[in-house]
This record gives sequence, C-alpha cells and structure tokens, in this order.
Amino acid sequence: MARTCLAVVLAAGDATRMKSSKSKVLHTVGNLPLIAHVTHAAAAAGVDKVALVVGRDAEAVTKAASNGIDIPVSAVEQTERKGTGHAVLMARDIIAEGFDDVVVLYGDAPLIDPGSLKAAITERGNGADVVVLGFRAADPTGYGRLIERDGALVAIREHKDATAEERAIDFCNGGIITFSGREAISLLEAIGNDNAKGEFYLTDIVEIARARDLKCVAIEAPEADMMGCNTRAELADIEQVWQARARHGAMMAGVSMIDPGSVFLSHDTKFGTDVTVEPNVWFGPGVTVGAGATIHAFSHLEGAVVGEGAMIGPFARLRPGTELAERAKVGNFCEIKKAKVGAGAKVNHLTYIGDAVIGAGANIGAGTITCNYDGLNKHLTEIGEGSFIGSNSSLVAPIKIGNGAYVGSGSVVTEDVPEDALAIARARQENKPGRARVLRDKIAAFKARKNNAKT
Ligand code: UD1
Ligand code: MG
Repeated sequence: MARTCLAVVLAAGDATRMKSSKSKVLHTVGNLPLIAHVTHAAAAAGVDKVALVVGRDAEAVTKAASNGIDIPVSAVEQTERKGTGHAVLMARDIIAEGFDDVVVLYGDAPLIDPGSLKAAITERGNGADVVVLGFRAADPTGYGRLIERDGALVAIREHKDATAEERAIDFCNGGIITFSGREAISLLEAIGNDNAKGEFYLTDIVEIARARDLKCVAIEAPEADMMGCNTRAELADIEQVWQARARHGAMMAGVSMIDPGSVFLSHDTKFGTDVTVEPNVWFGPGVTVGAGATIHAFSHLEGAVVGEGAMIGPFARLRPGTELAERAKVGNFCEIKKAKVGAGAKVNHLTYIGDAVIGAGANIGAGTITCNYDGLNKHLTEIGEGSFIGSNSSLVAPIKIGNGAYVGSGSVVTEDVPEDALAIARARQENKPGRARVLRDKIAAFKARKNNAKT
C-alpha cells in the first residue's frame, strides 16, 4: 500500500519585519501567494492532506493555500507564538487521524522543490525515523546546525544555543523535517523550552528520537530551495530565483527570450512552442500564448489569450478578458480589455478596444476608441468581419458595425452600420479659396501696428 503523508505547514509567524498590513505568506512570488507555492509543492510531492497552522488573516491564508490543489487543507490556529515545536502540535488532532509520514514545511519558504520532499519521504520509507532537509550555507549565521556522527544525524543545534565549535559547521537545517506519523505526537510532546529563546524548538525532535533509539538522517538540498522570506528585500531575492527558474523552464520548452532577465512571468503563464518574447515584457496572471506568437518589447499582458502566430506590441497592453485569435496583431500603444479580436484582424496603433468583439480580418485604424462606458454601465461594440474602421474614430457603444462595412476617418459613430455600408459621421469639409492668405495678411498688419506702438 502507498504511504500516507500529512504536511504541517507553519504560517503563524508575526512577520513584523515585512512591515505589512497583511500576513507575510499572502505576499506573492510569480503572482502566487507564498503559501500557495508551498502547498502546491506538497501536493506535487504526493502529500495526502495539509494541516495549516495559521495566525493572522486565517481565512485569506487558508483560501490561498487551498486554491489550485485537490488535496484537503485544514486550518488550525496558533494564538501564541511559542516556537516551531509548539506550532506543529497545534495540528495534534489532524496528526492523530493517522499518517505514515508527517512533513513540516514553512509557509514563508516557497522555493521548495517537490523532488526534495519526495526524497525525504522516500528516506522515511527506507527506514529513517526522522529525515531533515539540510543545505550548505554560504553564511550559516542564524540557522540551526546539523550535527552528524558516522553518517547519522545526532542533533540540531540552534545558532543561539550552539558552541563556537558547532557554529563552525556549515551544514544547516532548512526547516523541512519529516518524521513518523505514528510517533509524531509522542515525540512532539517531549519537546521542552529550556533554551536560549525559551521556545519549543521542533529541532529538538532529533535528540529526543535518538534517545529512543530511532534513526535520524539529514539529506542535502540546494540552498536556494530553502530561502525563507522575512523582509521585502528577501521577497525580492526569492522572486529573482523563482523568475530565473520559470524563464529557464520556458526556454527549455521552446520559447525564445532575447533578454530573459527583463521578462517577468507568472506561475500560470503558458506558452506554445516557437514563441518569441522580446525584452521588458510583463506577464500578469492568466496569460496563454499560442505557438509562433511574438511578444514585442515593453508589452504588459494579464488575463489574456494570445492566439497562434499573433503579434503583440511593442508597447501593447492586454488586459483581462482579451482573446486574440490566430495571426491577430495588436500594435504599439494599444490597450485591449475584455475583447475578442478575430483571426488576422489588425489593431495596430494608438487604440483602445474595450468590451468588444472584432471579426476576422477587420482593420482598426490608428486612434480608434470604443466608447464602452457611459458613466454608469459598460456596453458592447461589435465590429464585423473584414470591416475597416478609419483612423481616429469613436465607436459609441452599444454599437454594431456590420461585416465588410467602412467607417470614415474621424467619425463619431452612434448608430449601427449595416453590412457593406460606408458610414461617415463627421462635419462635412468646406474649403474657402484664398481665405488663408487674407488671414495671414491681417495677422501681419496687426503685428506691425503693435511694433510701431512700442517704438
Ligand atoms: C528555524 C529552525 C532552524 C532552521 C531555520 C531555517 C527551529 C527551532 N529552528 O529557525 O533550525 O535553520 O528555521 O530557516 O525550528 N512559526 C510559527 N509559529 C511559531 C514559530 C514559528 O508558525 O510559534 C513559523 C514561522 O512563521 C516560520 C517558521 O515557523 O515560517 C520558522 O520559524 P522561525 O522563527 O523563522 O524559525 P528560525 O528561528 O528561523
Ligand atoms: Mg526563519
């Protein structure tokens, strides 16, 4: 039978150093809350259930932790912050449901790799009672040190409690500890708080297990996977690592990036093959880009579907609800919101398209504006297939431009235009022969009089 595993995710920290009005774990990396990165990794590693230890913003944290995964998340509250050992015991009733393995994760360390979690769970299956994920720290100050003897882990010593000799060890506790679900409560209950911080240290579980002749081991994971977030500066560092990984993943899957360092991705950005992304492009949540599309420089996309072979930008903004069909073009300084743009349609310059449906092959001239908002409600603009909207036209919604219709430049269109009709909705031009010269002469005479008066 497959092993069962409970993840206890600690997310009850005060996070005062974030200087934030909301819980630290609700801050995002790749547009996904920190806590969701952790629960997603747990789910990907095959964990069966999550016990979430929460403090502030309990409801929002639980919701963020549960979104996008199909394993149950049960929240338990830790009202007093008495240390990691105390925090894990808050989940006592859930642990008591009976699991083969319990793995403790931190809600503020979002870079954990499901592969490392699986490796720890596998070690448990191989007979280790306690498995600690460690890392070699460039600067171990502040971390718990992993003290090994003959290949076995004998203790974790917190920095504040460590001797000078122990502090020289660079193998550190990453915070992810896996242990037997059957022994869990008895081990956790044995933890005391007789230490430099007066806290119940989860890390004491190693010495307690050893005293009971249980086997403890440490396995090594990359330092970056263990990065925790305590300040906004650390949040930015974590974002950098996450972005670099996401970009690498996209490139390995067939996306070309000319200057990957300037491209920002979301956790849910999806690309087809042979997509090119030019420098300085921002992907907000919910963007899908079809095969062969090109995203030119300085474009900003959010909640948008870009069809195969479509071209965006430079300097284009696609807002939520944008759906571009194959080969559609959205050019410079265009904003598209909640609109469908048909196959091969062109919206090339200085245009706002909001709440609209544009048919295949339509050509939207420079400076076209869909006037979708009347101050109270939003209205739909429908632009038919193969139609042509002349430059600098305002389409006052609700409005329908028929298939194959033409709209003359500079029109303010307030009535529907039938199929194949030409609409011109602007004042008729009048030319007054010689009138410009008369005006010019008058101005010159006026200037001469003014200059004479001065002298
Ligand atoms: C902990 C480890 C240390 C390890 C380090 C890695 C202990 C005693 N020490 O130290 O060995 O090297 O992490 O980053 O475990 N939390 C709660 N409730 C509490 C206390 C903590 O929810 O009562 C949460 C925090 O929000 C945080 C996590 O547990 O997400 C770790 O707590 P923190 O105070 O950061 O532990 P460290 O001192 O960094
Ligand atoms: Mg910490």
